[in-house]
Amino acid sequence: MKPQAMCVVLTGASGGIGSATACALVAAGARVLLVARSHRALEQLALGLGSAATFLSADITCPQGRASIVTAARATGANVLINNAGLASFGRFQNLGEPHIREVLETNLVAPVLLTRALLEHLGTQPQAAVLNIGSALGSLGLPGFCIYGAAKAGLHGFSEALRRELHGTRIRIQYLGPRATSTSFNDARVDAFNRATGAQSDSPERVAVAILEMLARGTPERFLGFPERYAVRVNGLVPRWLDGAFRRHRTLLTSDSTLP
Ligand SMILES: NC(=O)c1ccc[n+]([C@@H]2O[C@H](COP(=O)([O-])OP(=O)(O)OC[C@H]3O[C@@H](n4cnc5c(N)ncnc54)[C@H](OP(=O)(O)O)[C@@H]3O)[C@@H](O)[C@H]2O)c1
Repeated sequence: MKPQAMCVVLTGASGGIGSATACALVAAGARVLLVARSHRALEQLALGLGSAATFLSADITCPQGRASIVTAARATGANVLINNAGLASFGRFQNLGEPHIREVLETNLVAPVLLTRALLEHLGTQPQAAVLNIGSALGSLGLPGFCIYGAAKAGLHGFSEALRRELHGTRIRIQYLGPRATSTSFNDARVDAFNRATGAQSDSPERVAVAILEMLARGTPERFLGFPERYAVRVNGLVPRWLDGAFRRHRTLLTSDSTLP
């Protein structure tokens, strides 16, 4: 799809990857409906983007929030949904509380699934349409310290793959992008320190935004970013147990560093 033909609903638009993506989309000629909870941040971003951007303050985990997104998407003639909103989760599994676990699974998996379902009928009325789910390398490569985050993104990956096959041959493309660590405020100081200590490289949000634009333009079904992460994802998909012993440093840091959750 050409960027000029895209009218995009972008969740998580006020965040690092979201705002970089909004800027890249508008610069390429797309129209964007910016969605997040924080009205002020969206207002500021929309102001800088001019008439190609409108915004809606909505919580994707609430039925009312999703209903307001669907109403706005219909009114603007949206033909692309980017499920980008997400919450971070890091720490020893046994230390994560039930409310946190539920909130992460709701935001990162249940809400994008329900928003996709709510928008599907409208997307099917468009000449061409796409849903691009922003997952993570950690959804296809389970790492110590990221059990719940990885579970949510693995769910989003499985959902994307199955729905892509279910809708094969229709006007709606289902796409999935798995970025590796990205330099945004998503990762707090503890995750940054953990990533440094384990040798994980980070991309800029602008790099992720370019990949999003490329995927939408080319219709790429699935993509993982960064070396060696995308190769590790492949190996893990073939023989996961080969990698089970490979994360000693991660385990040691998690159990020995008292500053980690
Ligand atoms: N940064 C990374 O290292 C990294 C790596 C791989 C994948 N990802 C994925 O990339 C996506 C974007 O990450 P990011 O780094 O840009 O994170 P970020 O800067 O923290 O932005 C997260 C965005 O999600 C929105 N959001 C959170 N909960 C929401 C809710 N209930 N309803 C509506 N909006 C909500 C936030 O806005 P409000 O708080 O105002 O609602 C914000 O706009 C996420 O899905 C993340 O899992 C990130």
